[in-house]
Amino acid sequence: MTQISSDVVWHQGSVSYLERQQLNQHKPVLLWYTGLSGSGKSTIANAVDRLLFERHVHSYVLDGDNVRHGLNGDLGFSDLDRIENIRRISEVAKLMLDAGLVVSTAFISPFISDREQARQLVGPEYFVEVFVDTPLSVCEQRDPKGLYQKARAGEIKNFTGIDSAYQPPENPGIHLKTAQQDVTQCAQQVIDTLLKLRIFN
Ligand code: ADX
Repeated sequence: MTQISSDVVWHQGSVSYLERQQLNQHKPVLLWYTGLSGSGKSTIANAVDRLLFERHVHSYVLDGDNVRHGLNGDLGFSDLDRIENIRRISEVAKLMLDAGLVVSTAFISPFISDREQARQLVGPEYFVEVFVDTPLSVCEQRDPKGLYQKARAGEIKNFTGIDSAYQPPENPGIHLKTAQQDVTQCAQQVIDTLLKLRIFN
């Protein structure tokens, strides 16, 4: 990351946080999904997004596989690249929160320290960690992209859960156990939490 020039100053916007909230009729929040590859992060985040849309909540999903095609297309899966991946996503999510959106990020985000940095960057009151808790054995059985098979065969290096670490959240805001609940139940659990947090009515 290059250092910011001291000649660059922050420009204050002309529309306030509260004005946006009034227009939107809901608060912004970041739903930070974390879990193994194939755990169901994107599927659940998109199911929640649909429910939010139907409630007229302005929302958007930032998805690992998609963002790695564009903004983060220059990054691989070394520890350092994963850290940079999450740092950029956190910054993008912060801008989207400033725009008043309910933002969902669906990235493995394997390291506790990076997720903690994201929480501090956007402010803990806007950050809800969603642990998509799917055992490795289940992810490997699902293997929707055939990547676990390749990783086991040694064709992909640094694969999360195989030869790269995953540090599960210690105290997630939302804990989804996908081996016991289907997508609809998981999505509803997220919506129920947002209602409790009074993000919208
Ligand atoms: S993260 O670790 O940096 O947060 P991210 O969520 O962006 O990962 O990307 C994970 C997706 O990239 C996986 O779902 C999988 O489709 C693909 N992928 C390709 N190589 C790897 C790898 N070595 N480890 C994990 N995922 C990989």
